[in-house]
Amino acid sequence: MSNAESSVLGIETSCDETAAAVVQGLVIRSSVVASQEEIHAMFGGVVPEVASRKHTETIVRVVQRALDEAEVTWEDIDALAVTNGPGLIGSLLVGVSAAKAYHITTGLPLYGINHLQAHVAANFAHDRENALHPDDLPAIILIASGGHSDIVYIETPTDYQVLGQTVDDAAGEAFDKAARVLDLGYPGGPAISQAAEDGDSAAYDFPRPTVSDTLDFSFSGLKTAMVRQVEEIGSPAADTPAEDPATVADLAASFQAAVVDTLVRNVMRATEESGVNHLAIAGGVAANRLLRKRLRETCNSTGIQFHVPPPELCTDNAAMVALAGTFQHGTREPENLSLGVFSAMPGK
Ligand code: KG4
Ligand code: ZN
Repeated sequence: MSNAESSVLGIETSCDETAAAVVQGLVIRSSVVASQEEIHAMFGGVVPEVASRKHTETIVRVVQRALDEAEVTWEDIDALAVTNGPGLIGSLLVGVSAAKAYHITTGLPLYGINHLQAHVAANFAHDRENALHPDDLPAIILIASGGHSDIVYIETPTDYQVLGQTVDDAAGEAFDKAARVLDLGYPGGPAISQAAEDGDSAAYDFPRPTVSDTLDFSFSGLKTAMVRQVEEIGSPAADTPAEDPATVADLAASFQAAVVDTLVRNVMRATEESGVNHLAIAGGVAANRLLRKRLRETCNSTGIQFHVPPPELCTDNAAMVALAGTFQHGTREPENLSLGVFSAMPGK
């Protein structure tokens, strides 16, 4: 059977979402995400021990629900795909161990999927309007998440070349840290974006950092700039930020504008320099409304075709893992029980 028709069950547990999905060809049949956001919000960030324990409690039910919602049984599945890195080791191990158990009991081929490759693959989901099609390639893809801010050049759905990456914090991490300074809660991206709705993005002058003459990012200084600004205006974020919602809104809007400007600047430069006609975005930060709007406008005015998955395919999910598995199935040797996990990208 060609992978254009095969059904792949994907599993994702690299951070704080326990997710499973069934994809047939490049069409998503089900996508179940059990988020742990509420639990980690109490601690202001992901607690690895808590995350892996929750994955263990939930994974079997989530997989069963993915099969049920797709109205299929194990007999209908052709391959298993599981994220095996980068991510939190304890969390990854839960998904990979579950996938190995299903591999043993069903005999299905098993593929280990790189989480970033999965975010890229989200763009190829077919059941929507502005999907990226393999025939559109080459393309530039911005992967902006809690752990990554990568600009990649892809020639095929399975190969990619990193043109730029962050030298310190990722874009999502910057949002999360700034939200903590403003006491807006976790995850910070949606919170900052929400608070920014009523703010003036020109109220504060945050830096748009460059890293020499490269396409790399550096976001750690932005958080420091936010801390300084908060100290300077005498709004003690640790105590009473909510007392002045207008100031918080202006800070959030100005901060968001700085991150978005920086991402847009580098990604448009990469698109121009590589001469491609297609640009896509992926990862949790790709759910950001301002980023989507700005890239859509810039692409419209430069004749580049812009592709963006719906927000639920941008944040962590297993449909993207199954989609990545679809491209691997039949083109690569499947894994066996020695499949390992890794926490960071090689070389990082
Ligand atoms: O891809 P993802 O769900 O998980 C990782 O692989 O990291 O990305 C999570 C990150 C978090 O840092 C979160 O604050 C950020 O994506 N994020 C956003 C938005 N939604 C999620 N950042 C900015 N604006 C958003 N609307
Ligand atoms: Zn992710």
